Amino acid sequence: MAKIIKGGTVVTGSDIYRADILIEEEKIVSIADTIEKPEAEIIDAKGCYVFPGGIDPHTHLDMPFGGTVTADDFETGTRAAAFGGTTTIVDFCLTQKGKPLKEAVDMWHKKANGRANIDYSFHLMISEMNDNVLNELPTIVQEQGITSLKLFMAYKNVFQVDDGTLFQTLTKAKELGALVQVHAENGDVIDLLVQKALEQGNTSPYYHAVTRPPEVEAEATGRAIAMAALADAPIYIVHVSCAAAANKIKEARAQGLKVWGETCQQYLVLDITDLQKSDFEGAKYVWSPPLREKWNQEELWAALRNGSLQTVGSDQCSFNFEGQKDLGKDDFTKIPNGGPLIEDRFSILYSEGVHKGRIGLNTFVNAVSTNAAKLFGLFPKKGTIAVGSDADIVVFNPNVERTLSASTHHMNVDYNPFEGMKVTGEPVVVLSRGEVLVKDKQFHGKKGRGRYISRQPFRQY
Ligand code: URP
Ligand code: ZN
Ligand code: ZN
Ligand code: ZN
Repeated sequence: MAKIIKGGTVVTGSDIYRADILIEEEKIVSIADTIEKPEAEIIDAKGCYVFPGGIDPHTHLDMPFGGTVTADDFETGTRAAAFGGTTTIVDFCLTQKGKPLKEAVDMWHKKANGRANIDYSFHLMISEMNDNVLNELPTIVQEQGITSLKLFMAYKNVFQVDDGTLFQTLTKAKELGALVQVHAENGDVIDLLVQKALEQGNTSPYYHAVTRPPEVEAEATGRAIAMAALADAPIYIVHVSCAAAANKIKEARAQGLKVWGETCQQYLVLDITDLQKSDFEGAKYVWSPPLREKWNQEELWAALRNGSLQTVGSDQCSFNFEGQKDLGKDDFTKIPNGGPLIEDRFSILYSEGVHKGRIGLNTFVNAVSTNAAKLFGLFPKKGTIAVGSDADIVVFNPNVERTLSASTHHMNVDYNPFEGMKVTGEPVVVLSRGEVLVKDKQFHGKKGRGRYISRQPFRQY
């Protein structure tokens, strides 16, 4: 049945205007001042914003990491995402050295297929560079539509690659029309700082942050950008946590380099003192890069506002406090890195950003949806409200006040890092390809309805 979203204020990355939206099948077919169609189902959006569905460009679902597996898989993670207003994710497909890339991609399809509640795509991790990888990449990028490749400059002896691998990947990616993404931290230096901390008996969660200072992030960010410049290839820096790294991106962009950056809501609202919470609670805030001194937050907001950073990903990578985070009770290096973040990304960015006057509505939509769609080859199918686009839509009530909590969230995990935080605004109706997934706080989607999206090549340059 056709649907009309009626009476709301439509907000895209560029516009804000009053309009009704007509949805037929999976698509937006008309946008006009007033639309009447007797047989259509009416979704009342009076007093609400009508946003494009959120796109989370950074998730880790059903991922083995730190000696365990993330608490949320594609079913629970995408359901929580939908409640939070996110209708598309791009998840990281992990590869293993010495094994065909195809094996990894097939495995990720198996994890998602039949379980995902929203549409999804994959980035591919590059763990080594050799003839086998070079031979396989064209098929992966061009036939699977996996048009982004991720490398880790940290996690020594686990995921970390050397500079040669990064440089070769940048060169190949440019040729194939893919965007390279990096986790930018200097893993070698971190490893030495960690050894020293442990030798000195500093084993608590706080030392996770102490041993990964802003300098190691800024240095790796600058190094990655330099290699991208040498290869004349575009690069995207994931989860930028601090002013020092954001400034590297800002300077590079001012020089005309093809550099983009992502931050995450945790870096915008939480800080290093959270790692000092007693009773090992600090472990709930262990992720890499770590939380920073509070003053960095306003710098990150400024970077979003002035366009130095373009996206906000969640870096969803959830582990239960009981039974997973506590693997590192006596040694912070054994705490699995990551947190439950997929659900509250959209609302935190709205509440702390738009509601508190730090960013405007268009910047919000760009950061939470449109820019990721453009950078990762999903636009205009995803990431905007336009005739012909998928009807992925969030009807958002900007006046509701609520409190974030593990007792009400939908992630499959026993804590929420934003426990007790008050936010203004709530996604009240969430549609994915014209289907109501969330309404009246109830989930109406069907497990497995989410579709794999083969993405377009990188086209920003
Ligand atoms: O701590 C984090 N960020 N965990 C997820 C893996 C990664 O580095 O993105
Ligand atoms: Zn990372
Ligand atoms: Zn991540
Ligand atoms: Zn229903």
